[in-house]
Amino acid sequence: MATRRNFIKTSAVAGLGFSILPSNVLLAKDKAPKVRLGFIGVGLRGQGHLDLALKRNDTEVIAICDVQQRMIDMSLSLVTKSGKPKPQVILNGPYGYKKLLENKDIDAVIISTPWEWHTVMCLDAMNAKKYVGCEVITGMTLEECWQLVHTSERTGMPLMMLENVCYRRDVMAVLNMVRQDVFGELVHLQGGYQHDLREVKFNDGKNPYGGGAEFGEKGFSEAQWRTQHSVYRDGDLYPTHGIGPVAVMIDINRGNRFTQLVSYSTKARGLHDYVVKSDGTDHPNAKVNFKLGDVVTTMISTTNKETILLQHDTNLPRPYSLGFRVQGTKGIWMDVNKSIYIEGQSAKPHQWEDAKAWLEKYDHPLWKKYGNDASGAGHGGMDWFVLNAFIESVKRKANTPQDVYDAVTWSAITPLSESSIQLGGESVEFPDFTQGKWMYRKNEFALDDSY
Ligand SMILES: NC(=O)c1ccc[n+]([C@@H]2O[C@H](COP(=O)([O-])OP(=O)(O)OC[C@H]3O[C@@H](n4cnc5c(N)ncnc54)[C@H](O)[C@@H]3O)[C@@H](O)[C@H]2O)c1
Repeated sequence: MATRRNFIKTSAVAGLGFSILPSNVLLAKDKAPKVRLGFIGVGLRGQGHLDLALKRNDTEVIAICDVQQRMIDMSLSLVTKSGKPKPQVILNGPYGYKKLLENKDIDAVIISTPWEWHTVMCLDAMNAKKYVGCEVITGMTLEECWQLVHTSERTGMPLMMLENVCYRRDVMAVLNMVRQDVFGELVHLQGGYQHDLREVKFNDGKNPYGGGAEFGEKGFSEAQWRTQHSVYRDGDLYPTHGIGPVAVMIDINRGNRFTQLVSYSTKARGLHDYVVKSDGTDHPNAKVNFKLGDVVTTMISTTNKETILLQHDTNLPRPYSLGFRVQGTKGIWMDVNKSIYIEGQSAKPHQWEDAKAWLEKYDHPLWKKYGNDASGAGHGGMDWFVLNAFIESVKRKANTPQDVYDAVTWSAITPLSESSIQLGGESVEFPDFTQGKWMYRKNEFALDDSY
C-alpha cells in the first residue's frame, strides 16, 4: 500500500503535486521531532487547538497572534496551566500575523480567524514556507479557491483544512463499512450543518452560553463576525462538516469529482424572530434585514453518478444533527435516528435497526488506537484526531490527509450555492480544482491506523 509520503514523491515526480518541501521541518526519524507551531487567531476555536497542542509532547508553541487582548489573555492562561514556556505574543493589529510568519523557528501555523481572513493568511503562510492548518472554511470565492491551489502548488506547501467531522467516530466506522462493502455500491449521500446557532450569532460575551440581541462590535467571539455573513449572503455558508465525510466515502478528487450543483434557499425569519423575542422590536438589530435563508438546500452530482443532498440550517429552533445518510445497493445508515438497515442482515425486512452494534463492530482502527488519547478533546474527541493528523504530516514532511484540493473543493460549495440561488435555482458547474489529477489520485484517507 502506498504511504502518503510515497504518494508525495510519486506526485512530485509525475508533476501532479507538491515538489518542494520545507527545509525547516523536522524529519520523523529525528530523535526528538517537535513540530514548532504558530497560532494565528486564538479565539474560542484557536484556544481549543492551542490547548490540545500544549498537551502533546511533540509540539512547541512558539508564538500566538490575535487582535484582541481578551483572547490573548485567555490563551496565556492555558499556557500557564500547561507549565509550558510562554510563547511570543503578537498583538499588533490585523496584519500583525505577518510578523509571526517571519519567525524562522515556526514550522507550521494553525489559523483560526474569521472566514474572511483565511485566504490571505493561508497565502501568506504558504509563501513564508509554513505548513498550514486552517480552520473551516478556506476560500470564500472561487477566485480565492484558485489562488490557494496555485500558491500551494507553486510553493510546495501543503494546506490542510482542519475538517474535524471526517474524524467523528461513527463517521469513521461508516467509512470503514463503506470500504468493506457493507452498503454495496454507494448511490446517494446526505449531510449538512443543522445546528441552532442563534445564541452564537447573538452573544455579548457576558453569558458563557451567549444570547442577547447583540452582534458585530458589541458581540463576542463568532457574534463579532459570523452574523454579518447572514446579513449580506444567501447560500450554504458552512458546507464542509457535511460534505467532508461523504466526499471521503465516495473518493472525491480521487477517482471521482463533483460535476454540478444546485441550491435553493427559504425565507429568512429565524434571526429576526430571535432578536425580537430576546430584546423586543425597539432593539436596533430588529431592523436588520437578514439575507440568509433559514434553510438552504443544495444538491450535488458526481462523475460516478451519486447524488449528495446538503442542508444548512442554523437560524431556527432545532436539535443538533449533521443529518448524515449513506445509502447504497445493499443498505443505508442515517445519523439522525442512529439507525441502519442492511438487506438480508438486519433482523427484520424494511425495519430500522439500532446502528450501535454495527458502529462498534466496524470501529475504525485509528479510533481503536487513539481513542484514549482523544478522550476529553472537543467535539467528542474528533478535534484531537484532526490536529494529530496535521502534526503527524508535518513531522513526516508528508502531504496532509485532507489536502488543498479537498479544502477548496469542499469550501467552493458556498460561492457556488450563492450563485445558484442568485440565478433562481440554476444548476452551476463545479470547477475541477485538481485540473484532471482526480483521475489518477488514490484515496488514502485513514487507510490504516497511522494518523
Ligand atoms: N471545526 C469546528 O468544529 C469549528 C468550531 C468552531 C469554530 N470553527 C471555525 O474556527 C474559526 C474561528 O472561529 P471561533 O469560534 O474561534 O471565532 P472567534 O471569534 O472566537 O475567534 C476568532 C479570533 O480571530 C481573531 N482575529 C480576527 N482577525 C484577526 C487578525 N487579522 N489577526 C489575528 N487574529 C484575528 C479574533 O480576535 C478572534 O479571537 C472559524 O473559521 C470557525 O468557522 C470551527
